[in-house]
Amino acid sequence: MLIAQISDLHIRPRGALAYGVSETNLFAEHAIHALLRLVPRPDCVIVSGDLTDCGLDEEYALLRELFARLPMPVFAVPGNHDRREPFRRAFAEGGYLPPEGDLTFVVDRGPVRIVGLDSLVAGQSHGALTPGTLDFLEAALATRPEAPTLVMLHHPPFATGIGHMDTARLLDGAAELEAIVARHPQVARILCGHVHRSIQAVFGGRICQIAPSVAHQVALDLRPDAPSCFVLEPPGFLLHAVTGGGVVTHTAAIDRAPGPFPFVLPADYPGKARPAGAMTP
Ligand SMILES: [Fe+2]
Ligand SMILES: [Fe+2]
Repeated sequence: MLIAQISDLHIRPRGALAYGVSETNLFAEHAIHALLRLVPRPDCVIVSGDLTDCGLDEEYALLRELFARLPMPVFAVPGNHDRREPFRRAFAEGGYLPPEGDLTFVVDRGPVRIVGLDSLVAGQSHGALTPGTLDFLEAALATRPEAPTLVMLHHPPFATGIGHMDTARLLDGAAELEAIVARHPQVARILCGHVHRSIQAVFGGRICQIAPSVAHQVALDLRPDAPSCFVLEPPGFLLHAVTGGGVVTHTAAIDRAPGPFPFVLPADYPGKARPAGAMTP
């Protein structure tokens, strides 16, 4: 079972750039191509928020066109750049979102349970989990304790050291989320977006993982007074492989690169060559 996670597409109206610089619609096009190139094909795609830059209907319409080219289902939670009702309208056909209220959901894909939590605070950049959303998570975990579970929300519940993003992390409900996760050992990952970088930390005793953006990345600047800036470092996404032994997560590049080239060992290789004459590094 393979689950691809993309994040922070920040789709703009056709022809517009994000922040006057980032060609997010083009970046998203490349991301779709990268997903379609994957062999074996992921069972589904999950999206950890900021699907659009401003939550406009025309942005979601463009995104629907892109997602329609994916042969697998897409499950998404909103970020601070999304708006609930346009988001709900755009993805209503998927059938996984509730008809009203928070955009929180649970879906089962074979042995895996995916719980999407809505951490959006309308009109704010930071995130929060309401008591109702936390109760939803608790119930979703209690009813299928044997299923390896991915919990996804946009706002990370831990501080990354990138100050201007940390002030906009999950500010309410983080301690409660941590306690719930700690009580349910089947939670294999807490998956986030928002920070536009590949970042991991332990949270509630589990791996909490922030996906890179498929578009621009937040500058890696750990000075306390770091300005709020982005860079056009290579974009990426996460690929979660769920096996009987647990979940293994790969960080994958979106851009095409030369290769693959076989590891043909030179005669003076100091290790012990396997009989086939080629081995992993
Ligand atoms: Fe974002
Ligand atoms: Fe965000």
